Amino acid sequence: MRGDKDLDANVFAIRCGPLTPKATPYDTIMAPPPFTRNPYQTPEKDVSPEPDVSSRLPDVLSRSVSSSSAPPSSPTPSPTASQMTSSGTSSLPPAGISRRAWFGRMATGAGVAAVTVGVGASLAAWHGGRNCRVVRRTVKVPGLDPRLSGVRLAQVSDTHIKGDEWEPSLREAARLLRQETVDIVTFTGDIWHHESGLGGASELMRTIRGTSATLFTPGNWDYAASQSLRKIRSVVEATDTHVLANQWQDVPLRGTTLRCAGLDDLRFGQPDTVVTGAAVRETPTVLLVHEPGQMEMLPPHWGRTAVTVSGHTHGGHICLAPNVPIVLPEGSGSFVSGWYELGTGPLYVSRGLGGAIPYRLFAPPDISIITLEPAEPASRKPS
Ligand SMILES: [Fe+2]
Repeated sequence: MRGDKDLDANVFAIRCGPLTPKATPYDTIMAPPPFTRNPYQTPEKDVSPEPDVSSRLPDVLSRSVSSSSAPPSSPTPSPTASQMTSSGTSSLPPAGISRRAWFGRMATGAGVAAVTVGVGASLAAWHGGRNCRVVRRTVKVPGLDPRLSGVRLAQVSDTHIKGDEWEPSLREAARLLRQETVDIVTFTGDIWHHESGLGGASELMRTIRGTSATLFTPGNWDYAASQSLRKIRSVVEATDTHVLANQWQDVPLRGTTLRCAGLDDLRFGQPDTVVTGAAVRETPTVLLVHEPGQMEMLPPHWGRTAVTVSGHTHGGHICLAPNVPIVLPEGSGSFVSGWYELGTGPLYVSRGLGGAIPYRLFAPPDISIITLEPAEPASRKPS
């Protein structure tokens, strides 16, 4: 457990030092980073269309048999109409080859065709995995102040920045977010991958901003690259982004406040579910947590959040099929990606934007835009 003294000091600082949101218009501070080319504008041109191998196989095999069993001047005669199937190909073996050998070659051809189609589909999925998706959902929140109806949150996660230059998926996310207006931006950990990525991460947090608040909760890679929460705070808070690690923040918004809280990283931090749970139970709260597996570890009656946003899994990063990962990192729990309804409230698990390797399979990068609405009309007090 981290010292209560530090924690109390942080909470005290939050309670006594209300967030001072930057009044800079979102569009103004969302200026895009310099980059030369958006690879997603021409993704299809890089993938050559797969030839229709299956329809040509009988002809190919026929020519092969012909060349081996007859001289070139004596081509194999075309099959008669009665020998043609409905697709126009012969179902009978040519002269000079046994039925068994013929069907063996047919099976081999079908196998080659299946492998070709499978490889083509995988390459398409691999290439398409570079395109960033925007996941949108409206969440109904019991007890939400009606003045907060329509409040919009954006989540950016797992960017794994390794240098000053952003990777294509992150540049694409910045372009997409530039078209949005959101009240609160949440960074849910693993924002930088190495210490060399601190500059690029700082640029990210200065560039992608909420109109009312920009919040951050640390992930395991942020800890691994920075060694301490103190170092993480120094980097993040220098960008006017607020760190939420076992802390909560009442964000001033529309004449009221929206509570946002963050749990510290499960693997390298020291999550304090007691402090965070107390904050969650007081009022509808947006919770930031890097590893979704933490949500399975919470005790009964811990509390119910307005919505919880997390990342860490990358949706499996390399999957056999959508949401069928080969392996998931420790701390993922039973979650892969997408929306889950838990006893602690709705949970979104982002696939994030980056990773140790620049390619994905059946786990495309994403950002999420979440709109909050009261679950029921506000009851008017009798006059
Ligand atoms: Fe992580």
